[in-house]
Amino acid sequence: MRRLEDLSDDELIAAYQVADRSEPHLRANFVSSLDGAVEIDGKSKALTSESDSRVFSVIRRLADVVLVGAGTIRDEGYNPLRLSKSARAWRTAAGLAENPTLAMVSSRLELSPVNPVFQSAVRPIIVTHAASPPDRRAALAEVAEVLVLGEAEVDLRAAADEFAARGMTQILSEGGPHLLGALTDADLVHELCLALAPLLAGPGAGRITAGLPTTLTRRMRLESALAAGDDYLFFRYLREA
Ligand SMILES: NC(=O)c1ccc[n+]([C@@H]2O[C@H](COP(=O)([O-])OP(=O)(O)OC[C@H]3O[C@@H](n4cnc5c(N)ncnc54)[C@H](OP(=O)(O)O)[C@@H]3O)[C@@H](O)[C@H]2O)c1
Repeated sequence: MRRLEDLSDDELIAAYQVADRSEPHLRANFVSSLDGAVEIDGKSKALTSESDSRVFSVIRRLADVVLVGAGTIRDEGYNPLRLSKSARAWRTAAGLAENPTLAMVSSRLELSPVNPVFQSAVRPIIVTHAASPPDRRAALAEVAEVLVLGEAEVDLRAAADEFAARGMTQILSEGGPHLLGALTDADLVHELCLALAPLLAGPGAGRITAGLPTTLTRRMRLESALAAGDDYLFFRYLREA
């Protein structure tokens, strides 16, 4: 297996590039413990490491849209989306927008307009449906673009189509298990980047996916695997054609 530390930043970026950026592509990124925990004490922080942060940054650098569920914003104390100076310079040279756009999915819209995420470099997008609370929608429209897609449920496929129509084909889901469950159910996941943390977290935490059971099972193929000196493993799985 290739070792993460043997790769230069450019080689690591190349390892996570898609073949054709004009094709819509949704990549989900997760870190999990060896025994499948998606969080420790309600956050993913205790699962991450220096090597995980390096890979996470590279994956983020390649995105047009970073998609998250409102739960991850609330639970993680998610930071405003603003890339480092070097990442912005790399993106500009590559012909991309300086920063990706943050898009948050929510039904209940229990997000405060003063949440720091609304200070992201690019005005964020909120994706909701027509039955979400109109007063919260109006309040959030002051600090974000509100996309109403779907009647009583968010139409995630319509969201992906809307992003693609704006030239934002590369979607990175940094959302939590409920968002991955909904994206899987809508058959929108092209890729899963999974970091395996060398930890036994014990019982309690959920898996990387959640929500109502689905009959959908999708075969994925291993595109690449990297091993890091801190015993983390980084897998990149793509949907079988
Ligand atoms: N290990 C990792 O890599 C990783 C990554 C991300 C998060 N996490 C962990 O995951 C936990 C949070 O899990 P979560 O499942 O709550 O996260 P989530 O999926 O990001 O957020 C769930 C919330 O997002 C909104 N949402 C998601 N899918 C939706 C859909 N299809 N339609 C409408 N709204 C939708 C809903 O918000 P409303 O309630 O506002 O309607 C829902 O309550 C935290 O402990 C976090 O630390 C771990």
